[in-house]
Formats: sequence, C-alpha cells, structure tokens
Amino acid sequence: MGECKSFCSLILVFLLVACASGEDPYRFFNWNVTYGDIYPLGVKQQGILINGQFPGPQIDSVTNDNLIISVFNSLDEPFLLSWNGIQQRRNSWQDGVYGTNCPIPPGKNFTYVLQVKDQIGSYFYFPSLGLHKAAGGYGGFQIASRSVIPVPFPPPAGDYTILAGDWYKQNHTDLKAILDGGSDLPFPDGLLINGRGSNGYTFNVDQGKTYRFRISNVGLTTSINFRIQGHKMLLVEVEGTHSLQNTYDSLDIHLGQSYSVLVTADQPAQEYYIVVSTRFTSQVLTTTSILHYSNSAGSVSGPPPGGPTTQIDWSLEQARSVRRNLTASGPRPNPQGSYHYGMINTTRTIRLANSAPIINGKQRYAVNGVSFIPADTPLKLADYFKISGIFSLGSVSDGPTGGGGYLQTSVMAADFRGYVEIVFENAEDTVQSWHIDGHSFFVVGMDGGQWSAANRLSYNLRDTISRSTVQVYPNSWTAIYMPLDNVGMWNVRSENWARQYLGQQFYLRVYSPANSWRDEYPIPTNALLCGRALGHSTRPQ
Ligand SMILES: *[C@@H]1O[C@H](CO)[C@@H](O)[C@H](O)[C@H]1NC(C)=O
Ligand SMILES: *[C@@H]1O[C@H](CO)[C@@H](O)[C@H](O)[C@H]1NC(C)=O
Ligand SMILES: *[C@@H]1O[C@H](CO)[C@@H](O)[C@H](O)[C@H]1NC(C)=O
Ligand SMILES: *[C@@H]1O[C@H](CO)[C@@H](O)[C@H](O)[C@H]1NC(C)=O
Ligand SMILES: *[C@@H]1O[C@H](CO)[C@@H](O)[C@H](O)[C@H]1NC(C)=O
Repeated sequence: MGECKSFCSLILVFLLVACASGEDPYRFFNWNVTYGDIYPLGVKQQGILINGQFPGPQIDSVTNDNLIISVFNSLDEPFLLSWNGIQQRRNSWQDGVYGTNCPIPPGKNFTYVLQVKDQIGSYFYFPSLGLHKAAGGYGGFQIASRSVIPVPFPPPAGDYTILAGDWYKQNHTDLKAILDGGSDLPFPDGLLINGRGSNGYTFNVDQGKTYRFRISNVGLTTSINFRIQGHKMLLVEVEGTHSLQNTYDSLDIHLGQSYSVLVTADQPAQEYYIVVSTRFTSQVLTTTSILHYSNSAGSVSGPPPGGPTTQIDWSLEQARSVRRNLTASGPRPNPQGSYHYGMINTTRTIRLANSAPIINGKQRYAVNGVSFIPADTPLKLADYFKISGIFSLGSVSDGPTGGGGYLQTSVMAADFRGYVEIVFENAEDTVQSWHIDGHSFFVVGMDGGQWSAANRLSYNLRDTISRSTVQVYPNSWTAIYMPLDNVGMWNVRSENWARQYLGQQFYLRVYSPANSWRDEYPIPTNALLCGRALGHSTRPQ
C-alpha cells in the first residue's frame, strides 16, 4: 500500500511534467544528504555531503531537460536545496528557499521536478536554510545548448567547474549561534577551491588545447579575485549570457556570481598556480590549485601571482567591460523582445537601500528599513491556500525610508509583464551582492555616489549583460532593468550569507490574475506541507 502510494505520487509528478513539457528528455538524480568528516583546512569538520561527496555531484543538463531530483535528508535537522540562477519558469514551487517550500524533515525525502530552459550557462546549487552553506552541500549546475543552437566558440577540449569561496573552521551551528546572538560573523579562516585548501586540487590540461573553466563564488561573506599564473582568460559566458570575448588577467567574482572563461594551455609545459584571493578585505586570504600540463617538465615555481592592488575603480571598470556579444546567436528572442531591452519603457522604479540597523540590541540587516523575519509557513503556500496573517503585500516600500529598521515578513507586490527599473543603493562601506530568484536582469549602470534620475543618461541601453547576481560597490549604486516574466514568489536577497540570514532579503510576488497554467504551474501534488498549510490539499482543484 505504502509502495503503491509513493509509486502513484511519482506517476502524478511525471504526468504533471509530461503535460507541461511534452517529449523533452528526463534526467534522474537520487541524492542522499548526510553529515560526514571533511578536512578542507586541515582540521576535521562535519561537512554536509551529497552522496558522500563535498562538493556535491555536478548537474549536467541540456536546454529543455526535465530534472527529477530526489533528495533524501539524512541529517538530524530540516534541509532544503536551492538553485542559484536557474529560472524555473512558472515554477517557484521548486525554488527550495524558506519562502517557497517546507523544509524536508530529517529522515524524509522530497523530489524536485524542474525543467531547465534556454539559459545556456553556468550556475550552482546550495543548501538554503540557516547557515548550512557553511558546511558545504553545494555543487555545480550547468545547462548546455541543444545541438541545433550554435555556441559562439569552438567546443573546448575540456570543461572544468571551479567552486571557490571563503570558509570557516567553526561549524554551521556555531556560526548561526553567533548571528542569533546579535553579532556579525568573524573574518573567514581560509578559501577553498572545490572543497580543498591550498594545492589540494589539480586540473590537467594538454599543451596547445583550450579549456573552459566555469567559476562560481560559493562563499559566505567575501568577494574573490580569480587568476591563472602565466595565462590569459577569455571571458565567454556570464550566468547564461554569451559575453563579448574580452581577455582578462584576473576576474573579480562577487558572492553568488558565475563566469565562464576559455584558457589555452599555450605556455611552456610545467605546472601553474590557479589562484583565488579575497577582495576588498583589509586582510587578504589566498588559496591555490594546480594547472598541470600533461607533458609537464616541472612543478609550480615562484610565489603565486598577486591580485589587483587597486580597489574599487579597477573593479568597476572591469564590471563595465562585461557586455553582451550582440552578434552571437542567442537561443531565441525572449517574449518581450528584450534583446532591445533599452528601448522598452519601464513601468516602475524600485530603489532598494541596504542598511545595518541594531534592532532590539542585535545586529540586523535591512532593505528599505525592513529586516526580513521568517514566518511559520512558507509564503508561497500561504498565498496559494489563502491563509491570512502570514505576510502582507506592500510590507516593503518602493524606496528608501530613512530612519532605523524594523522586523517584518516582507513581501513586495509586482505585476506579471511589468518591466521594472531597480536601483540598488549602497551607502555602506562594504561591497554588496544582490541576487533575484526566477529572473535575469540587464545591468544598465553602476557608479559611485548617490543615484539620481540624471544617472539614467549614463545607462548602457545597448549591449549590457543579463544575469541574476550583481554587485554594488561601497557608497555606490547599481541599476538594472528586469522583465517580470515569471509568475511566482521569488526571493530577492543579499548573497552575503550573514546579511541574508539577518534580514537583508524579501520576497517579490509576481502576480497574474489569469490563474492559468500558461502563467504558473499548479502546486505540485508532492509538495510538502507544514505550519498553517498542514491539512490543506495539494490535489488539482
Ligand atoms: C520518499 O517519500 C515518499 C513520500 O513522499 C515515501 O512514500 C517514500 O517511501 C520515500 N522514499 C524513501 C526512499 O524513503
Ligand atoms: C544515506 O546514507 C547513509 C550513510 O551512508 C545511509 O545509512 C542511509 O541508508 C542512506 N539513505 C538512503 C536513502 O540512501
Ligand atoms: C558544532 O560544534 C559544536 C561545538 O563547538 C557542537 O556542539 C555541535 O554539535 C556542532 N554542530 C554540528 C552540526 O556539527
Ligand atoms: C561575437 O560572436 C561572434 C559570433 O559567434 C564571434 O564570431 C565574435 O568573435 C564575437 N566577438 C566578440 C568581440 O566577442
Ligand atoms: C515610451 O514612452 C515615451 C514617453 O512617454 C513615448 O513617447 C513612447 O512612445 C514610449 N515607447 C514605447 C515603446 O512604448
């Protein structure tokens, strides 16, 4: 009976997907999430492993694939995975963040059903609850092009994923306790590349060949700089956009961001350092991996190359040079024709100012004065089942409010098919990194000082990049244009995990009154229920 039930619910899941996406291929993943010993900085730590691995297994997918990802939670606490930058069209049910999904209870499983669309590029997944990310549980996620769609560079001889970021020796429960206690996190203890400390990882190359490196910053609190000793990097892709193919000696990669570069092994045959160091920090942490030529005549020599010494201006110039290749083919023009994104009139301007208020004697972080606190029921479920009193629309305003801060389960209302200008305003002296789930946006401008309407004259309305995570430099602003083309409840968050956890986030409810499958999928029949959603039904109505 139990078996029949689970079998039947699986069949229902498949039917749902089959209706939605016809004959597109399926890929199945069975993941078991456990604690296990890891030694990334030489000391034993309890890491979050997926099928025994840290980092977790890579998801390799192709445009239009249906991914059936069954996650068994063998931890002794609730768990969720989320998909950084994967749009999940009409399907915020699968986003795997606090506001969309009930956590998978210990000893239980949940099957995510997502279809990847025309976002050919590099992403990662991560555990979204608490400070789980500080224990690992993340992995690479790439979407490849179907063979009918050309990619604007020859196929590389190899394809490597680099998941880099800062790391703490304290475990995630201790780090969470620091934040809960009202303090900020200490400076990290080190940096990791693919779960290893210095020279813990080797990338093999053949002399004369060209390789793709997909680099993501999966850290908690710091921007990084990435470089390869003696080699140039040709930038080719940024979070799903094929970029102008500029050459760089090093790249600044902010929290949550992903880039692809091509590297040709065109140097004398030996070993070279692959280097990651922290950026915009008074103390600089560095870690290295090895680029090993197969016919290598020697090992790495000399000190690893240093990173850029100039600070904001260099980084800002580099950010502006990251642009779209207008002649490279895209998968297809999107429904809004926003390849001409600069010619569409925006329907609304939203200005989002980050701040670091002390509330009730504790360090918090806020957006327009509101510091987000979770409620007892995921917001998406509260919305679907019309359970009142969990959040109210309009609880975060369209502009900075000045003054202190207050706690609130903040949700901003937005209309499907709107086209918004969002200005991130950073009056603090630290770099911010903002991410929006379910969407890609055009980064039209960034500069120092206070934003004003006059800054619109400097926007790049022709060939900027479209991505899902963008930095805002200290005492600076960043402006984006974003088509609201995906109905759902979407997390807008700081990718700095201490800030995110302490309230620098909210949910954007992109709403269509049509109540149609064409706009949004119905609740999955296997959706977990919790809080005040318990006892409701996920059966089709
Ligand atoms: C996964 O969860 C379903 C209920 O959603 C249950 O029927 C099934 O037995 C579970 N599978 C495993 C391997 O525990
Ligand atoms: C998950 O892994 C643990 C530890 O190896 C094992 O005891 C457990 O049976 C596994 N669970 C599943 C559902 O595979
Ligand atoms: C984290 O470390 C503390 C001791 O500092 C320990 O009590 C706790 O159980 C650990 N948590 C995890 C998840 O390993
Ligand atoms: C842009 O893409 C085209 C078409 O694939 C390619 O030939 C060209 O080299 C690219 N140009 C730049 C500057 O990236
Ligand atoms: C945009 O707005 C301007 C001024 O209101 C108007 O003249 C123009 O026709 C609009 N363009 C489009 C494409 O709607």
